[in-house]
Amino acid sequence: MPQQTTYRLAFIGFGAVGQGFARILFERGDWLAQRYGAKLVVVAVSTRRGSLYDPDGLDLGQLLQAVEQDGQLPQSKARVDWTPQELVERVTADVLVEVSATDLTTGEPATTYIRTAFNRGMHVVTANKGPIALHGQVLLKEAQDEKVYLGYEGTVMSGTPALRLGWSDLAGCTIHEVSGILNGTTNYILTQMEAGSAYADVLAEAQRLGYAEADPSSDVEGFDAAGKAAIIANMVFGANLRMEDVACQGITQITLDDIAEARAARERWKLIARVAQQDGQVVASVSPQRLPLSHPLAGVNGPTNALTYTTDLLGEVTLVGPGAGGIATGFALLADVLAVHGV
Ligand code: HSE
Repeated sequence: MPQQTTYRLAFIGFGAVGQGFARILFERGDWLAQRYGAKLVVVAVSTRRGSLYDPDGLDLGQLLQAVEQDGQLPQSKARVDWTPQELVERVTADVLVEVSATDLTTGEPATTYIRTAFNRGMHVVTANKGPIALHGQVLLKEAQDEKVYLGYEGTVMSGTPALRLGWSDLAGCTIHEVSGILNGTTNYILTQMEAGSAYADVLAEAQRLGYAEADPSSDVEGFDAAGKAAIIANMVFGANLRMEDVACQGITQITLDDIAEARAARERWKLIARVAQQDGQVVASVSPQRLPLSHPLAGVNGPTNALTYTTDLLGEVTLVGPGAGGIATGFALLADVLAVHGV
């Protein structure tokens, strides 16, 4: 068995993604310790409905059962009267798991939680798009200055390694363009609408399945995909785009008639995000497009996402995989924590 290192994890937020990560740890924590020598212990969870802290580790089974049953944290001796910010300031932990609700306008309060964690010497893993889309490069620099790790793989395509592919695996290539389907909710809605379901019903189902944002207008108006385009532009291309620099149009105008019209023409609507080098500048956009059924992205359906990197040395490299969901995004957090461990 490899030498064991213990990582104490503190969660801020415990929605679909936080629960997904906790469930992975509950079900395979022992195996992770055996296989990689990384013992991952959840010592704290803080939500708007209360906080728990036990330096010896929370009972994950009890926690998941209580939250899945009625959305509340369990009554336990680990209850503390701390706000999320107070918890980040006081907890003794090695890694902050920042999975509170995304705000793509201010990046707050998550950005403050992340900075507080850095200042206290904690690594941060996050699936929160706001802080990375708005301040990713600055936060990465701050993490480097504090000699801690900032993991953000789950911000684009959930656990599918879309960012790592760009900044690590394709290092040495020049990337000309990255384009694809980057929002699971809208791709699921478009797929189900083609099967005849009404927009409002499918959106409700996407919320129930944990694909949609807390405020799903961010998904359907294209803002979520625009945030991911900004993350790719800034963190993979090294650009300095703001959210308002990403031209953005969502799917709210697409009707069942539009979908039927496309089908008759052997085409399919997809919400396409694109980041490209153009005349020495990086440009980014999100817009619905009618693709011929023969197009590779036309066959990517449901909450699945896909991304094509166009490079000089390899030509096109396409990655297809889950784009949303609690377990799929929880996996991204696991991959980031294992990266802290050196895996
Ligand atoms: N709401 C997002 C989506 C979640 O549907 O893609 C993953 O970022």
